[in-house]
Amino acid sequence: MRAVRYDRYGPPEVLHVADVPDPVATPGEVLVDVHASGAGLGEVAIREGRLRTVMPGKLPRGIGNDFAGVVVHDAGGFHAGDRVWGVLPWRTFGATAERIALPAARLAPAPANLTLTEAAALPVSGTTVLTALDDRITLRRGDRLLVRGAAGAVGVVAVQYGRAVGAHVTALAGARALDLVRELGADEALDYRTTSPADLGRFDVVLDLVGTQLRAYRRLLSPKGRLIALVADPDHLLRSLLAGLLPGVVAFSNNPPAARIAQLTALVEQGAIRPVISATLPMTEAAEAHRRVAKGGVPGRLVLTRA
Ligand SMILES: NC(=O)c1ccc[n+]([C@@H]2O[C@H](COP(=O)([O-])OP(=O)(O)OC[C@H]3O[C@@H](n4cnc5c(N)ncnc54)[C@H](OP(=O)(O)O)[C@@H]3O)[C@@H](O)[C@H]2O)c1
Repeated sequence: MRAVRYDRYGPPEVLHVADVPDPVATPGEVLVDVHASGAGLGEVAIREGRLRTVMPGKLPRGIGNDFAGVVVHDAGGFHAGDRVWGVLPWRTFGATAERIALPAARLAPAPANLTLTEAAALPVSGTTVLTALDDRITLRRGDRLLVRGAAGAVGVVAVQYGRAVGAHVTALAGARALDLVRELGADEALDYRTTSPADLGRFDVVLDLVGTQLRAYRRLLSPKGRLIALVADPDHLLRSLLAGLLPGVVAFSNNPPAARIAQLTALVEQGAIRPVISATLPMTEAAEAHRRVAKGGVPGRLVLTRA
C-alpha cells in the first residue's frame, strides 16, 4: 500500500509517498481503509525535528494522526464496511496512508451526516476541544470564553462548542476570518494583530492555541478562571513547560478514549459542530499541505485524501 513517509527531518520536501507493506492487525486492533486524514501545524515542528528532544522516535516516520475511513474486516466490535473515524494512539503518526491498523478503542462510528473527507477534518480538533472544555474543565452556560487562534483547526471547533454550551465566546483570529468565527458562534471577534491582552476583559476560560504571551493572558482570568495552554513553543520549550505549571493553567496532550470520539460523533450529528476545511489535497501533495499549514492565513483544517 502507499503511505506518506519521511526518512530525515527537514523541509516539506522530505515528505514523499512510499510503497510499504500492508499493516497487519494484532488482536484488539481494527484494519481501516483510510479515505482522508488531517494535516496540522503541530506536525510541522515534528517533521522539522524541532521537537525531537521531547518526541524522540525512529525514522522513517509517517504523518497524520486522525482520519476517516471504512473497516476492512470484522474486529473489535466493528464490522466490515462500517464508516469510522478516529485518532491514532498517543503521539503516533501514519494515518496519511491507504490502510492503517489501530486499537478499536481509538475508533467510533463516523457521523452519518458527513462525507468521509469532511469527517477527516474533525477527530483531533474535536476531541482536543472536548478534552479541554468538557473533561479537564467544564465550560458552562454563561461562562466567558476567550479562544486565541479561533480560526485555526482547533479554534473553529472551540467556538462552535462554546456556542453550543451557551458560553459567551470572544474569538481572536486573523482579520480575514472574523466573519467566519462570528458565523460559527462568536459573540465578539477581534483581529489578533491589532488586539493586545490589555484590550480584553475578564474571562472564566482562556483557550490558548498560540503558545506565546501566556502570562499576560493568564492575568485576564476571573478568580476561579482557567487558562488551557495547548501549545508548547518549539523555540522556547522550557519556558512553555514552566508556564504550564503556573496556578490556573491547565496543559495536556490530547489522548482521547473511544467515548470522547463517540461524543464528537453525537455533537456533529446533532448539528452542534460542523467541519471547516481550508483545502482538500491528495496525499501525493503532502509536502504542499505542510507548506500551507505552516504559512497559515486560511481558516480550518487541511484534509489529505488517498487519491
Ligand atoms: N495539546 C494538544 O493536545 C493539542 C491538540 C491539537 C493542537 N494542538 C496545537 O494547537 C495549535 C493550534 O492547532 P491548529 O491545528 O488549530 O493550528 P492552525 O490551524 O494552524 O491554527 C492556528 C491559528 O492561530 C492563529 N494565530 C496565529 N498567531 C496568533 C496570535 N498571535 N493570536 C491569535 N491567533 C493567532 C492563526 O491565524 P493565521 O493563520 O491567520 O495567522 C491560525 O488560525 C498547534 O500548535 C497545535 O500543535 C495541541
